[in-house]
Amino acid sequence: MAEAAAERVIARISENPGRVAICLTGGSSPRALYQLLATDPHRNKIPWQRVHWFIGDERFVPVDDPLNNMAAARAIFLDQCAPAANIHPIPTSTADPTDPDRGAALYEQELKSFYGADELDPARPLFDLVLMGVGPDGHTASLFPGYPTLDETTRWVVGVPKANVEPFVPRVTLTLPTLASCREMLFEVAGADKRAILTLTFAGENLPANRARSSGETVWLVDQAALPENFRG
Ligand code: 6PG
Repeated sequence: MAEAAAERVIARISENPGRVAICLTGGSSPRALYQLLATDPHRNKIPWQRVHWFIGDERFVPVDDPLNNMAAARAIFLDQCAPAANIHPIPTSTADPTDPDRGAALYEQELKSFYGADELDPARPLFDLVLMGVGPDGHTASLFPGYPTLDETTRWVVGVPKANVEPFVPRVTLTLPTLASCREMLFEVAGADKRAILTLTFAGENLPANRARSSGETVWLVDQAALPENFRG
């Protein structure tokens, strides 16, 4: 799965001769992909100077906390490969550490300034590629089932005071319209413990994981263990 994901990442980068923007995800699923991107032959296919790396959601913990999503991506591949100015973490050490909305507002400003406009233009996606995972309750990024943030249409990034699953720390997450503004949204889902929620997701339940769609192409990479019964064979 990581090989397939790496090939898609490289393909999207190759399609854009200018400045590239990739939105990474947290969780355990993308770790093997991140390792591959730091290793030849993939590493030398990436024009690191012109690729920018963002994160779709962050646990509101300090950067030196092992739970920090961008810190994990940095440790696995970004710090070895990418120029520091091309790494765009969500700030979690704002003046009031209990206020994820502040971190969200700062990141929204950073995204708008990178994009060069305050409104997303469907003809000009923000990201070339957005990576996603699915949690056991059907959440994706830090968009949890039944939370009002799912219906956000104005803000690009929001604070989430309490997560629905572990770790129960506040979160900051890009909203559905922001995540949708991409040429490709790429889900990676692996393991038997994901099969039940994927069955519901693919059956069309109202879950964040099936409300998250790219305005371009949405791709699901699912391993055999996670694949719902009715998709087998
Ligand atoms: C987070 C993630 C979250 C993750 C899913 C899947 O910050 O926790 O971004 O949305 O992608 O929970 O996590 P796993 O890959 O660990 O199964």
